[in-house]
Amino acid sequence: MLEIRNLHARIAEDGTEIIRGLNLTVRDGEVAAIMGPNGSGKSTLSYVLAGREDYEVTDGDILYNGHSILEMDPAERAAAGIFLAFQYPMEIPGVATMEFLKTALNAQRKARGEDPLKVPDFLRRVKEAAGSLDMDMAMLKRPLNVGFSGGEKKRAEILQMKLLEPKLCVLDETDSGLDIDALKIVADGVNSLRAPDRSVVVITHYQRLLDFIVPDTVHVLYKGQVIKSGDKNLAIELEKNGYAGFIAEAA
Ligand SMILES: Nc1ncnc2c1ncn2[C@@H]1O[C@H](COP(=O)(O)OP(=O)(O)OP(=O)(O)O)[C@@H](O)[C@H]1O
Ligand SMILES: [Mg+2]
Repeated sequence: MLEIRNLHARIAEDGTEIIRGLNLTVRDGEVAAIMGPNGSGKSTLSYVLAGREDYEVTDGDILYNGHSILEMDPAERAAAGIFLAFQYPMEIPGVATMEFLKTALNAQRKARGEDPLKVPDFLRRVKEAAGSLDMDMAMLKRPLNVGFSGGEKKRAEILQMKLLEPKLCVLDETDSGLDIDALKIVADGVNSLRAPDRSVVVITHYQRLLDFIVPDTVHVLYKGQVIKSGDKNLAIELEKNGYAGFIAEAA
């Protein structure tokens, strides 16, 4: 599904290298967790995967189903089935969430060669997905993410995922402020999307989240590199002993 090879990426504006030779493979159907200390480059990796223009890839490659995505713009990557949920989701003033969802879903359908959904079909799908997330339909009339609480943003993010049915989901989870209900929303959302042809990358500081979403693989990111990979037990070990041991080992 996803193969990142010796990736180097820097901030376009000042040339600061943040991703420094990162290797990562995520197989079809796999749920991978990425952990790592603050500032290790986790969010930067999600921006580079999204294709944000303020980052430059200087070396290495990102292969999605065997093909490089480096030359694809963010819209093309989304159309190909790559979904990114950022640590700090963008607020979109002036566009009702519902309208945003319809546009996004129909763009996705168009990319898959499908016709746009008729309004009643679209509404039925949204109601179904929102209902499963305990989301009030009134909220969907509000502009996307504007004034949403942390938990509401999480719900909105999972709602988008459920509707768009991406093949590769990358979720950068906020490291504070999520209550246990929000953690469960994310976990249930991810678990409900598990499929043999879909992969999920969850960036998190929470071992607790990984009690609900049991990952197939866990990777530790440090200074822009994956310094350790393992299974779910690696996250438990990190929770107990912290990163120091692995950082010393990698140095
Ligand atoms: N515009 C910028 N100029 C200089 N340095 C930057 C810029 N943007 C990000 N960085 C640095 O890049 C590093 C990686 O940041 P990033 O947000 O990817 O970390 P992270 O692993 O997601 O951390 P956290 O766990 O706190 O979310 C940090 O040291 C950060 O200060
Ligand atoms: Mg981050």
